[in-house]
Amino acid sequence: MKSLTAASCMLFLSSLLLVVPCPMGQAEPDGRGKLLEHSGFTAIYCFGDSMYDSGNALAESPQGPMGKFPYGVTIHHATGRFTDGYTIIDRIAEAAGVPPLNPYLKRNMDHSKGANFAVGGVGLLSKEARAKWHVKLPFSNSSVDIQLKWFDRHLNQAYRNQTAARREHVESSLFVLGGAGNDYLHMNLSFSSLPRVVQMKRIMPALLAATRAYVKTLITEYGARKLVVPGILKAGCRVSTGGFFHATQVQCDETLISVAALHNRLLKRELEMLRIKFPDVEIVYGDMWRATQWLFDHFGSAGIHHPNERCCGNSSIGCGMPGAPYCGNPSDYIDWDGTHFTDHAYRLMSDFLIPQLASGLGCRAAAAAAANNVRSQG
Ligand SMILES: *[C@@H]1O[C@H](CO)[C@@H](O)[C@H](O)[C@H]1NC(C)=O
Ligand SMILES: *[C@@H]1O[C@H](CO)[C@@H](O)[C@H](O)[C@H]1NC(C)=O
Ligand SMILES: *[C@@H]1O[C@H](CO)[C@@H](O)[C@H](O)[C@H]1NC(C)=O
Ligand SMILES: *[C@@H]1O[C@H](CO)[C@@H](O)[C@H](O)[C@H]1NC(C)=O
Repeated sequence: MKSLTAASCMLFLSSLLLVVPCPMGQAEPDGRGKLLEHSGFTAIYCFGDSMYDSGNALAESPQGPMGKFPYGVTIHHATGRFTDGYTIIDRIAEAAGVPPLNPYLKRNMDHSKGANFAVGGVGLLSKEARAKWHVKLPFSNSSVDIQLKWFDRHLNQAYRNQTAARREHVESSLFVLGGAGNDYLHMNLSFSSLPRVVQMKRIMPALLAATRAYVKTLITEYGARKLVVPGILKAGCRVSTGGFFHATQVQCDETLISVAALHNRLLKRELEMLRIKFPDVEIVYGDMWRATQWLFDHFGSAGIHHPNERCCGNSSIGCGMPGAPYCGNPSDYIDWDGTHFTDHAYRLMSDFLIPQLASGLGCRAAAAAAANNVRSQG
């Protein structure tokens, strides 16, 4: 992906007879800084699940455990994020120089710099598609198609009758379209005698089609110009204590690993086709798989001493419930609550991911700056 993006960037630049390298093209992650600031995003809009949610599920279920101690302990209050602090989307916002995205469903919040529509527990498929594929979401029905409706409502409220201003705002915004994962995990497999891996692979085309449809909607109906579509992370590695991630003696769930790998491969191909269809739109694949792998390879040097155990809760008492065990030092852990990463782990993943996104999103901005430069000099 990266070499392709860099190549097309170089092509564009060389057509302007300028020898300007694509910015931020370095392969090795070296910290977040403000790597995305040069892209000049005025706002960020995020769709997805609990990897990204910053309080929508909590707004839907105010008594939910993610609103209780020790969720949010590292930032001194429970925000509804499914971790002890911030998630990757907050780090992306930080790198872009915009404030952490406020959850759309929480009242009286400023959404001038964007909004977070992600809701913990949901997936990509619409209600009809979920019924067809026997996917049952236990926590919320606010899947990504519903989140797109919220986005429409938000725009209509914020830019009532201001068509030009609205278009300008959308064109200079970054869209992050996450949410692949839960549909696979919440399939009811008892409707078929086919092996689990086969059943999961059968719903893959529906998930890819949904992704394609959402990307197209954001581009053609609203004018989005910059999108990040994350793949599925390398999870599905469990330990007997009920933890989710297992770095050193990997005992992965081979089904989940192979489903995620195939999903990511096909998603990359899907995005390549969308780039051909929309050549003036930057569509970047967010490589969550390699971000997880990078975390597994580097947690030691980052001072994480407990890569295998979860910090909060156990298999009988979930995190945020009364009496749940809590480690007291989340930055020493990868696994926060058995399903989600700690703030520290998300930060390490962001160290990988953000330079990757900056390299994918930087080309047009650099090319436009170069073109301006040529114009002002000529
Ligand atoms: C989701 O929708 C179904 C069907 O309309 C409903 O029975 C269920 O209670 C809803 N779930 C939640 C968490 O709102
Ligand atoms: C917005 O446009 C609609 C339809 O064109 C019109 O009825 C309405 O008065 C306008 N509202 C404002 C605030 O200008
Ligand atoms: C899955 O489907 C079977 C057969 O219809 C049903 O008995 C079972 O309760 C379902 N499981 C869940 C978790 O919905
Ligand atoms: C979960 O934690 C509680 C409180 O520390 C403990 O009493 C219980 O035995 C633990 N359960 C398991 C399955 O480890």
